[in-house]
Amino acid sequence: MDQYQEHPLRLRINGQDREFSVQSWVTLLDLLRERAELTGTKKGCDHGQCGACTVLLDGKRVNACLTLAVMHDGREVTTVEGLADGEQLHPLQQAFIDCDAFQCGYCTPGQLCSAAGLIAEGEAKSIDDVRELMSGNVCRCGAYPQITQAVVQVMGLDGGKRAGEGEKPFTTGAVLA
Ligand code: FES
Ligand code: FES
Repeated sequence: MDQYQEHPLRLRINGQDREFSVQSWVTLLDLLRERAELTGTKKGCDHGQCGACTVLLDGKRVNACLTLAVMHDGREVTTVEGLADGEQLHPLQQAFIDCDAFQCGYCTPGQLCSAAGLIAEGEAKSIDDVRELMSGNVCRCGAYPQITQAVVQVMGLDGGKRAGEGEKPFTTGAVLA
Protein backbone atom coordinates (compact mmCIF):
# COMPACT_ATOMS: atom_id res chain seq x y z
CA MET A 1 0.00 0.00 0.00
CA ASP A 2 1.21 3.47 -0.83
CA GLN A 3 2.12 4.98 2.52
CA TYR A 4 1.42 8.45 1.16
CA GLN A 5 -2.07 7.56 0.01
CA GLU A 6 -4.72 9.95 1.24
CA HIS A 7 -8.10 8.92 2.52
CA PRO A 8 -11.36 10.86 2.38
CA LEU A 9 -12.60 11.93 5.78
CA ARG A 10 -15.79 13.68 6.80
CA LEU A 11 -16.19 15.14 10.24
CA ARG A 12 -18.75 17.40 11.83
CA ILE A 13 -16.61 19.87 13.75
CA ASN A 14 -18.27 22.36 16.06
CA GLY A 15 -21.53 21.95 14.17
CA GLN A 16 -20.02 22.32 10.70
CA ASP A 17 -19.59 19.53 8.17
CA ARG A 18 -16.00 19.42 6.99
CA GLU A 19 -14.31 17.24 4.40
CA PHE A 20 -10.64 16.36 4.27
CA SER A 21 -8.23 14.11 2.48
CA VAL A 22 -5.66 12.78 4.92
CA GLN A 23 -2.82 10.33 5.17
CA SER A 24 -3.42 7.51 7.58
CA TRP A 25 -0.90 8.61 10.19
CA VAL A 26 -2.33 12.10 10.73
CA THR A 27 -3.56 12.47 14.28
CA LEU A 28 -6.86 14.10 15.10
CA LEU A 29 -4.87 16.81 16.88
CA ASP A 30 -2.78 17.66 13.83
CA LEU A 31 -5.84 17.58 11.62
CA LEU A 32 -7.67 20.02 13.86
CA ARG A 33 -4.75 22.42 14.21
CA GLU A 34 -3.16 22.24 10.78
CA ARG A 35 -5.96 21.30 8.40
CA ALA A 36 -9.10 22.59 10.09
CA GLU A 37 -7.22 25.66 11.38
CA LEU A 38 -8.66 25.25 14.85
CA THR A 39 -5.63 26.03 16.94
CA GLY A 40 -7.51 26.35 20.22
CA THR A 41 -6.73 22.70 20.86
CA LYS A 42 -3.17 22.61 22.14
CA LYS A 43 -0.27 20.25 21.65
CA GLY A 44 1.66 19.71 24.85
CA CYS A 45 3.37 16.36 25.16
CA ASP A 46 1.97 14.74 21.98
CA HIS A 47 2.11 11.48 23.96
CA GLY A 48 -1.16 11.28 25.85
CA GLN A 49 0.24 12.52 29.14
CA CYS A 50 -0.81 16.12 29.58
CA GLY A 51 -4.41 16.48 28.35
CA ALA A 52 -3.76 19.77 26.55
CA CYS A 53 -5.23 18.24 23.38
CA THR A 54 -8.51 17.07 24.95
CA VAL A 55 -11.53 17.40 22.65
CA LEU A 56 -14.97 15.83 22.64
CA LEU A 57 -15.60 13.04 20.16
CA ASP A 58 -19.31 12.28 19.94
CA GLY A 59 -19.49 14.00 23.32
CA LYS A 60 -16.80 11.89 24.99
CA ARG A 61 -13.43 13.34 25.88
CA VAL A 62 -10.37 12.02 24.12
CA ASN A 63 -6.73 12.95 23.80
CA ALA A 64 -6.62 14.09 20.19
CA CYS A 65 -2.88 13.39 19.98
CA LEU A 66 -3.46 9.70 20.59
CA THR A 67 -6.00 8.95 17.92
CA LEU A 68 -5.77 8.93 14.15
CA ALA A 69 -8.11 11.19 12.25
CA VAL A 70 -9.04 8.55 9.64
CA MET A 71 -10.53 6.38 12.38
CA HIS A 72 -13.35 8.85 12.93
CA ASP A 73 -15.08 9.30 9.61
CA GLY A 74 -18.59 10.60 10.09
CA ARG A 75 -18.16 11.48 13.76
CA GLU A 76 -18.74 14.71 15.61
CA VAL A 77 -15.90 16.67 17.18
CA THR A 78 -16.23 19.54 19.61
CA THR A 79 -13.20 21.69 20.33
CA VAL A 80 -12.85 24.64 22.65
CA GLU A 81 -13.94 26.87 19.77
CA GLY A 82 -17.29 25.07 19.78
CA LEU A 83 -18.14 25.35 23.47
CA ALA A 84 -19.61 28.85 23.45
CA ASP A 85 -23.08 29.53 22.06
CA GLY A 86 -22.35 32.45 19.77
CA GLU A 87 -21.37 35.36 21.99
CA GLN A 88 -22.59 33.50 25.07
CA LEU A 89 -19.73 31.78 26.86
CA HIS A 90 -20.16 28.20 27.99
CA PRO A 91 -20.82 28.17 31.76
CA LEU A 92 -17.44 26.52 32.27
CA GLN A 93 -15.68 29.27 30.34
CA GLN A 94 -17.40 31.90 32.48
CA ALA A 95 -16.57 29.99 35.66
CA PHE A 96 -12.90 29.73 34.68
CA ILE A 97 -12.85 33.50 34.30
CA ASP A 98 -14.75 34.07 37.54
CA CYS A 99 -12.48 31.70 39.49
CA ASP A 100 -9.24 32.88 37.85
CA ALA A 101 -8.68 29.28 36.85
CA PHE A 102 -5.64 29.77 34.61
CA GLN A 103 -2.35 31.54 34.41
CA CYS A 104 -0.63 31.06 31.03
CA GLY A 105 -3.80 29.46 29.64
CA TYR A 106 -2.04 26.78 27.62
CA CYS A 107 -3.83 23.92 29.35
CA THR A 108 -7.16 25.74 29.48
CA PRO A 109 -8.79 24.52 26.23
CA GLY A 110 -8.11 20.93 27.28
CA GLN A 111 -9.29 21.59 30.83
CA LEU A 112 -12.52 23.09 29.51
CA CYS A 113 -13.26 20.24 27.10
CA SER A 114 -12.34 17.69 29.74
CA ALA A 115 -14.63 19.35 32.28
CA ALA A 116 -17.48 19.45 29.75
CA GLY A 117 -16.99 15.74 29.13
CA LEU A 118 -16.77 15.02 32.84
CA ILE A 119 -20.06 16.79 33.51
CA ALA A 120 -21.75 14.90 30.66
CA GLU A 121 -20.46 11.59 32.06
CA GLY A 122 -22.29 12.25 35.33
CA GLU A 123 -19.82 10.22 37.40
CA ALA A 124 -18.39 12.99 39.56
CA LYS A 125 -20.32 13.48 42.79
CA SER A 126 -17.77 15.31 44.89
CA ILE A 127 -14.79 17.63 44.68
CA ASP A 128 -12.51 14.62 45.13
CA ASP A 129 -14.25 12.94 42.18
CA VAL A 130 -13.63 16.03 40.08
CA ARG A 131 -9.96 16.01 41.06
CA GLU A 132 -9.65 12.33 40.21
CA LEU A 133 -11.57 12.49 36.95
CA MET A 134 -9.68 15.58 35.78
CA SER A 135 -6.33 14.06 36.72
CA GLY A 136 -5.40 13.52 33.08
CA ASN A 137 -5.27 17.27 32.54
CA VAL A 138 -2.01 18.69 33.77
CA CYS A 139 -1.56 22.38 34.55
CA ARG A 140 2.06 23.41 34.69
CA CYS A 141 1.08 26.72 36.25
CA GLY A 142 -0.51 24.89 39.18
CA ALA A 143 -3.94 26.48 38.90
CA TYR A 144 -5.54 23.27 40.15
CA PRO A 145 -7.51 24.68 43.11
CA GLN A 146 -9.11 27.33 40.91
CA ILE A 147 -9.77 24.88 38.07
CA THR A 148 -11.44 22.48 40.50
CA GLN A 149 -13.43 25.30 42.00
CA ALA A 150 -14.66 26.43 38.58
CA VAL A 151 -15.81 22.95 37.66
CA VAL A 152 -17.56 22.21 40.95
CA GLN A 153 -19.19 25.62 40.81
CA VAL A 154 -20.78 24.79 37.46
CA MET A 155 -21.78 21.37 38.80
CA GLY A 156 -23.38 22.88 41.87
CA LEU A 157 -21.03 20.99 44.20
CA ASP A 158 -19.47 24.22 45.35
CA GLY A 159 -21.00 24.72 48.81
CA GLY A 160 -20.27 28.42 48.50
CA LYS A 161 -16.54 28.13 49.08
CA ARG A 162 -14.10 30.37 47.34
CA ALA A 163 -11.25 28.98 45.29
CA GLY A 164 -8.87 26.98 47.46
CA GLU A 165 -10.81 27.62 50.66
CA GLY A 166 -11.01 24.54 52.81
CA GLU A 167 -9.39 22.36 50.17
CA LYS A 168 -6.74 19.78 50.86
CA PRO A 169 -3.19 20.85 50.14
CA PHE A 170 -2.71 20.28 46.46
CA THR A 171 0.37 18.90 44.77
CA THR A 172 1.13 17.87 41.23
CA GLY A 173 1.74 14.37 42.53
CA ALA A 174 -1.79 14.21 43.86
CA VAL A 175 -3.13 15.31 40.51
CA LEU A 176 -1.23 12.70 38.59
CA ALA A 177 -1.93 9.88 41.04
S1 FES B 1 -0.70 16.70 23.74
FE1 FES B 1 -2.13 15.09 23.88
S2 FES B 1 -2.01 14.43 25.94
FE2 FES B 1 -0.42 15.91 25.74
S1 FES C 1 -2.66 27.74 33.14
FE1 FES C 1 -0.60 27.45 32.46
S2 FES C 1 -0.47 25.32 32.17
FE2 FES C 1 -2.40 25.58 33.09
